[in-house]
Amino acid sequence: MYRIFVTRSLPGNALDKIKDRCNVTVYPLDRTITKDELMTYLKEADAVISMLSDPIDKEVIEAGKNLKVIANYAVGYNNIDIEAATKSGIAVVNTPDVLTEASADLAWALLLAVSRRVVEGDTMTRAGKFRGWAPELLLGVPVYGQTLGIIGAGRIGQAVARRAKGFGMRVLYHNRKRLPEAIENDLGMSYAALDDLLAESDFVSLHCPLTPETKHLIGPRELGLMKQTAVLINTARGPVVDEEALLQALRKKTIFGAGLDVYEKEPLLTPGLADLPNVVLTPHIGSADTRTRLAMVDMVLNDIIAVLNNERPQNLVNPEVWGRR
Ligand code: GLV
Ligand code: GLV
Repeated sequence: MYRIFVTRSLPGNALDKIKDRCNVTVYPLDRTITKDELMTYLKEADAVISMLSDPIDKEVIEAGKNLKVIANYAVGYNNIDIEAATKSGIAVVNTPDVLTEASADLAWALLLAVSRRVVEGDTMTRAGKFRGWAPELLLGVPVYGQTLGIIGAGRIGQAVARRAKGFGMRVLYHNRKRLPEAIENDLGMSYAALDDLLAESDFVSLHCPLTPETKHLIGPRELGLMKQTAVLINTARGPVVDEEALLQALRKKTIFGAGLDVYEKEPLLTPGLADLPNVVLTPHIGSADTRTRLAMVDMVLNDIIAVLNNERPQNLVNPEVWGRR
């Protein structure tokens, strides 16, 4: 029987359905597994379901002597040394598509929460400090009809753009590659150079993967180009933003606010960030709706079973590995 190791308990009971065919072990503790523990568990495993918070480096990969597939329970896979996996002939799969809409929803939740000061309002109301309607109470920045700048126009970036139609927005995007004109027209978005997008947008939302090229893509210079009334949303990966530079911009109010679901040293925050009223902080919950998280389990299981049956998995991140089999 194949052995599958899962680094964290997953929602639903899909794992039970494969227990007659596979020996499934789930890490028993409700915390991120340590590297040493992971390396011990992987000694026996044919497949692993990993979380985005599990660094799967060369050493971990080499500990998995029988490992045939690493299934990351996430769309982003910057936590995995893909080159090392490919060298060891291990397939890496992820969960694109199923989490696109949920992730776009959360980017919008943050956009609206920051611009309309929803969290400040909630805090004030709960504290019994709502003393009646007032003309200047918690004035935010307008949303409808404003300009949205999307950095990284893959599936999630495009889904965020689609929602902007209902808000009557002008949408700019910046991407490594310009999109086909038909997609630009369909989504009503125009390509812009990064600096132009930053200078013209009222909202800047990040949807690029974390790569050496996108690390600190948004630093002091880029924040300096943004409008004083602009809002930055990061639901992509923390290190895309220089968090210390963002803290300074929020402190000095050179931008209006920020909505963050991801952090540079996750789960740690840059000291001082949590004291600011003009930032809304969520704990990396972009894909966290019930339907999405269940679909992600089915997706990783289907691909694990495919690999173990020597069939090409649907969401192969390192296709080079397959040619060699
Ligand atoms: C979430 O951040 C993911 O990559 O799935
Ligand atoms: C994620 O799936 C993306 O391509 O944006």
